[in-house]
Amino acid sequence: MLEIKVTKTENPKTKPAPGTPLGFGKIFTDHMFIMNFDTGEGWHNARIVPYAPIPLDPASMCFHYGQEVFEGLKAYKRPDGKVSLFRPDKNFARLNVSNDRLCIPKIDEAFAIEATKLLVDIDKDWIPTGENESLYIRPFIIAVDPFVGVHPAHHLLFMIILSPSGAYYPEGIKPVKIFVEKNYVRAVVGGTGFTKAAANYAISLKAQDEAEKEGYIQVLWLDGVHRKYIEEVGAMNVFFVIGDEVITPMLQGSILGGVTRMSCIEICKDLGLKVSERLLSIDEVVEAAEKGTLKEAFGTGTAAVISPIGELKYGDKVIDVNGGKIGEISQKLYDTLTGIQWGKIPDKFGWTQCIGDCNCK
Ligand code: COI
Repeated sequence: MLEIKVTKTENPKTKPAPGTPLGFGKIFTDHMFIMNFDTGEGWHNARIVPYAPIPLDPASMCFHYGQEVFEGLKAYKRPDGKVSLFRPDKNFARLNVSNDRLCIPKIDEAFAIEATKLLVDIDKDWIPTGENESLYIRPFIIAVDPFVGVHPAHHLLFMIILSPSGAYYPEGIKPVKIFVEKNYVRAVVGGTGFTKAAANYAISLKAQDEAEKEGYIQVLWLDGVHRKYIEEVGAMNVFFVIGDEVITPMLQGSILGGVTRMSCIEICKDLGLKVSERLLSIDEVVEAAEKGTLKEAFGTGTAAVISPIGELKYGDKVIDVNGGKIGEISQKLYDTLTGIQWGKIPDKFGWTQCIGDCNCK
């Protein structure tokens, strides 16, 4: 495995005092990981250095054509003092799926996990321990060839930065209001919807901005062809509980295969719930709401964890979900998932990986 050269900062930053509201993704730790790719040499020069701006040529390809992919995972400080990561293997496997689609050279997944663990260990005193707080880990890769022609890059940077964060939405676990998007589309099969490419998020901003102006926190995307099948929410996958069926849109190439989505499906199965990955039209949701069989709706994501949906707006229809309250299944999933992540309940699934000397995988 490649060696990682470590240079520690001589000027550590002041950490937020316990109890300071952290928000999400606004504060960054003392160090960052960085590694270069150059055609002919492969990935090389892995290093952990003091967190700082990086000099980039204005012609760097990532600025012009968006050849960028990223991931999001979290580190948690457990009651026993150990630090754990949640399913990092899934994140780095997905990073390579994104890399493949964006013509970015693949990374060594096992090495990326080790690099993440080393970086988190160096900055472990930054891991917050307040309610809903964790250390958000953002790996990303950018194309840096100084070239304004459209072509896969020959020179790239793989970086990892860390951000002590609280809940993604200020609402925390309180239900959010979501706007069902009728005009704009996010992705179509054959595009990049299944990847974590920056471009997917750039093109979502307009719809999100318009939804926010109407008092909705994010949009629920419908499929780009029929404009009726539910896909995902801005920064989360989405689940609906209709009758006794827990439904989430199936992965067919236009939506993200979320790690939290996958984990919720596994927890639901373990709880003996009927869970389906299938096509779900917005009309089915509206009809269920009218008949009184729409029990719950919630988003899932690393950043957002479980985010109950209390209201949907679709055209001129305002759909109330569970009286705007968190539902039983959403609460159970939240408790199970965060219990495992924060090390408060046993991890019978074997999902957590502790850093350093521990009994976990
Ligand atoms: C995550 O949940 O980690 C994500 O990457 C979503 C992000 C756009 C905040």
